[in-house]
Amino acid sequence: MSYQPKDAFYRKAKKEGYRSRAAYKLMELARRFRLIKPGDRVVDLGAAPGGWLQVAVELAGPKGKVVGIDLQPIAPVAANVATMQGDATSAEWQAKIKEALGAPADAVLSDLAPHLSGIRDADIARSIELARMAHRIARELLRPGGGFLVKTFAADELREYFDELKMDFQNVERSRPEATRKGSSEIYFAARGFKGRSA
Ligand SMILES: C[S@@+](CC[C@H](N)C(=O)[O-])C[C@H]1O[C@@H](n2cnc3c(N)ncnc32)[C@H](O)[C@@H]1O
Repeated sequence: MSYQPKDAFYRKAKKEGYRSRAAYKLMELARRFRLIKPGDRVVDLGAAPGGWLQVAVELAGPKGKVVGIDLQPIAPVAANVATMQGDATSAEWQAKIKEALGAPADAVLSDLAPHLSGIRDADIARSIELARMAHRIARELLRPGGGFLVKTFAADELREYFDELKMDFQNVERSRPEATRKGSSEIYFAARGFKGRSA
């Protein structure tokens, strides 16, 4: 388990066999925005220790395919979940994700988070940078009509980021799931209806 302190969601995750309390955020967001259906191909960026992967494969079912990547190692999840240890922002790893998927993705998820330095402005800037990179990766991997879920931290630039997403997706909403820690400034954007790369 990767999160401290041991709050209610932490205990629930431990009891129910999820690898992270973050699993409950994806459960809520995926349900609310209907992001993953049975049979879907899903990419999870920043996937360790694997809580989101567990939820994604539950929703995609045995006919789905899930590919997760993280800088940290990820223990095996299920037969139809491929995991990779690498830098999601590098072209080399993006090519490997594409290969593992075998076809364009129905959904790209990003819970990517920077290693926090404690310097607030630097951490926020890095978080927005990762969210922009995740958006670029989603553009490369998604099929037209596909969905994108991305985490970022509250920042002045969020309006701009929202507008960037709107250029590529029919519908963009922001959300703060219940499992988000009190006092956390993290925010999720759910973008649906990818317009395609020529948009
Ligand atoms: C909040 S955690 C993800 C938790 C995960 N969603 C779960 O439910 O288990 C964020 C992850 O992003 C990863 N990360 C940050 N930068 C990355 C990068 N460039 N490439 C791949 N993973 C990265 C970190 O190693 C960290 O494990």
